[in-house]
Amino acid sequence: MTTARFRPRRSCLAVPGSNPRFLEKAQGLPVDQVFLDLEDACAPLAKESARQAVVEALNEGDWGGKTRVVRVNDWTTHWTYRDVITVVEGAGAGLDCLMLPKVQDAQQVLALDMLLTQIEKTMGFEVGRIGIEAQIEDARGLVNVDAIAAASPRLETIVFGPADFMASIAMKTLVVGQQPPGYPADAYHYVLMRILMAARAHGLQAVDGPYLQIRDTDGFREVAGRSAALGFDGKWVLHPGQIEAANDIYSPGQEDYDRAELILDAYAHVTSRAGGARGAAMLGDEMIDEASRKMALVIAGKGRAAGM
Ligand code: GLV
Ligand code: MG
Repeated sequence: MTTARFRPRRSCLAVPGSNPRFLEKAQGLPVDQVFLDLEDACAPLAKESARQAVVEALNEGDWGGKTRVVRVNDWTTHWTYRDVITVVEGAGAGLDCLMLPKVQDAQQVLALDMLLTQIEKTMGFEVGRIGIEAQIEDARGLVNVDAIAAASPRLETIVFGPADFMASIAMKTLVVGQQPPGYPADAYHYVLMRILMAARAHGLQAVDGPYLQIRDTDGFREVAGRSAALGFDGKWVLHPGQIEAANDIYSPGQEDYDRAELILDAYAHVTSRAGGARGAAMLGDEMIDEASRKMALVIAGKGRAAGM
């Protein structure tokens, strides 16, 4: 899958903006993305000082090529505009995306897009470089997810927020990410697919949210394995113990990766030899055609991005 703004996002580490120790430690962890959080991981009284801590961490930290994201507060609070202005004016050059939580409609994405454009123009930054990640965290966001995904060329990914989402629909459980007791099938299938379809229809990535039982690595692997199987690009990680699992699960297995490269080579060879006249060929016992090439390209692309 190639998107306009594709970035590796297998592991997206949540880092509370109000915790200097975590802001420091996160820099050395082997994640694809960090997001410095001004929203739910920061207590209301800590939010203002956290803005400055985030600006300093972005400007002075060594993030070693990771994608750098800041999660601002959602538009129903009074914090959002100052979050955006302080962080982008103070550290715009060291920032790849802003994450907007609890997005309920396309206008909320547009409002952030417009504010970003004004700041970029004022500061002399390249207009449009800073991307947006939109979190879907309630029923309204989910029913509007197509329009949300189409709202701005800055959008890079749609992110599922299971904790807020489960609360919003009154799901009968307290354990985020796990199946609610009493329902015999996968309670998240519809939500994940809905988000994935909207993301892919608009050339965006799709990222799964947190698994809060941070010591339960098997549980993390199981939950991550489901969204990875559907096609999600990655998942939040809340603890160093979840990182290796995420990087592994959202990369293809070695065998699949090798097979994908083989299919690409074989198909390119056959089609070029036949001077463009042949569209299908045999690879061992399997018939491969243009659709096989596309499937192989997805796996090979993910593997190459993972350095396989
Ligand atoms: C993340 O923000 C969540 O609500 O799960
Ligand atoms: Mg949330």
